[in-house]
Amino acid sequence: MTAPRITVNGTEAPISPAAPHTTVLDFLRERGLTGTKEGCAEGECGACAVLVARPGTNEPTDWVAVNACLLPAATLDGQEVVTSEGLATAGTPGTPGTLHPVQEEMAVRGGSQCGYCTPGFVCSMAAEYYRPDRCAHPDPAEGTDPEHGPNGFDLHALSGNLCRCTGYRPIRDAAFAVGAPADEDPLARRRAQSPPAPVATEYVRDGSAFLRRNTLGETLRLLRERPDAVVVAGSTDWGVEVNIRSRRADCVIAVDRLPELRELRVGSDAVEIGAALTLTEIERRLDGRVPLLAELFPQFASRLIRNGATLGGNLGTGSPIGDSPPVLLALEASVVLADADGERQVPLAEYFTGYRQSVRRPGELIRAVRLPLPLSPVVAFHKIAKRRFDDISSVAVAFALDVEDGIVRKARIGLGGVAATPIRALTTEEALEGRPWTAETVDAAARVLRAEGTPLNDQRASAAYRSAMLGQSLLKLYAQTTEAVSS
Ligand SMILES: Cc1cc2nc3c(=O)[nH]c(=O)nc-3n(C[C@H](O)[C@H](O)[C@H](O)COP(=O)(O)OP(=O)(O)OC[C@H]3O[C@@H](n4cnc5c(N)ncnc54)[C@H](O)[C@@H]3O)c2cc1C
Ligand code: FES
Ligand code: FES
Repeated sequence: MTAPRITVNGTEAPISPAAPHTTVLDFLRERGLTGTKEGCAEGECGACAVLVARPGTNEPTDWVAVNACLLPAATLDGQEVVTSEGLATAGTPGTPGTLHPVQEEMAVRGGSQCGYCTPGFVCSMAAEYYRPDRCAHPDPAEGTDPEHGPNGFDLHALSGNLCRCTGYRPIRDAAFAVGAPADEDPLARRRAQSPPAPVATEYVRDGSAFLRRNTLGETLRLLRERPDAVVVAGSTDWGVEVNIRSRRADCVIAVDRLPELRELRVGSDAVEIGAALTLTEIERRLDGRVPLLAELFPQFASRLIRNGATLGGNLGTGSPIGDSPPVLLALEASVVLADADGERQVPLAEYFTGYRQSVRRPGELIRAVRLPLPLSPVVAFHKIAKRRFDDISSVAVAFALDVEDGIVRKARIGLGGVAATPIRALTTEEALEGRPWTAETVDAAARVLRAEGTPLNDQRASAAYRSAMLGQSLLKLYAQTTEAVSS
């Protein structure tokens, strides 16, 4: 094993002497790359965004923007990173110091005032600039709406970036003005080559260790030897624990690059999604094939977070307000758990046992999530939060219904934020099944749904509000389905 190092803006940099918990943000700033800023250190502001070369969906490599404040530097051993400083020379090769096209647009359109957020914005913008299918629409005017530019730019690429002083109009103008990368653009050309292969890492300093193995088998054996270890995938939860709650682990084991956890299979009887695929990867690879998941993704955090966050991490955290469990419960998902002795499959409805508790044993990893096919056709995911995007749920409801000849043949409803664990709304499901899909049935079932769970009063919402929102979600779903039929 070679000493851990990261290729930053084309130059290899050793990770040592950073501590194993040191974030990519601190690592970069220590090296003088102070364009990468710390705003919040908890994934909320995007001032720390950098680009990482990752396996692509349509090209071998995608440039993916991630929150450097949440990722341990050791997790990027052997990987390639580009910062705002690196962009400045990449956009116009051979002319060091020249602005990258996204930087140029930000400058000329007044997208930057104090400039604190700007390096993060340009990194998120550059990731979207280099997205291979961005300009693919044959008629750019047709792809235009308030959130998509005539150049195919998806504004949600910037949903994890906050600006306190410029205002977003000029930033949007800059995003919608960028063209296509030039043929000689080195970062555009880089997409045609494979991303760096994951490397095994053994980084030990001052009594703490960051370890990565190449295969699932080796990782599970290591986990058996180190049951005290913290498993880390995208680190969007763990990074917050480290930065805000000052948690430290004697041993961290990375699972995010394990090939066995990064497979996505669509079979005749099930869709199996690897636990370490990021939400962005799942979204792009499924491309709408699981409509309820397609409704979840845009409502889950921001693009920056989704570029790191995994389903394994969302279930591993076991938060009662996690957004994927209600959806996965409605889809009747099972969790595939693996340890050094083999695998077992547990229905998600039996997985959670208490507040942040599950049936997962020490030494076990979530390898995948399985969704049985066929999928129910009437689906909706309603996330009730204070903001439309990038906010934590007060309550979340996912529906998956089979309505045949006007009768509800099957109803599956997943709830988050109304109990110590995500739950199925079993009584409401019963109140719907076998009954006509009519306003009367739905009104009665909505009253039942309001009484599901034991919602709490807290700073996010009152129990009464949460209950009311449950009932409203079913009424909303009914209104949407009948609108769809009558239009
Ligand atoms: C700004 C911000 C916004 C967020 N918004 C949302 C949101 O809208 N909705 C939402 O649900 N969550 C949200 N989150 C929480 C977080 O992004 C998700 O929980 C995410 O899915 C965690 O995935 P990860 O890979 O980053 O997990 P990590 O941080 O790597 O790990 C989280 C936990 O899961 C365990 N774990 C990871 N992978 C596995 C595995 N394969 N097997 C067993 N255990 C495993 C780890 O040991 C750890 O305990 C947000 C977080 C931040 C910082
Ligand atoms: S510093 Fe705010 S998201 Fe990283
Ligand atoms: S330019 Fe000042 S915070 Fe965005």
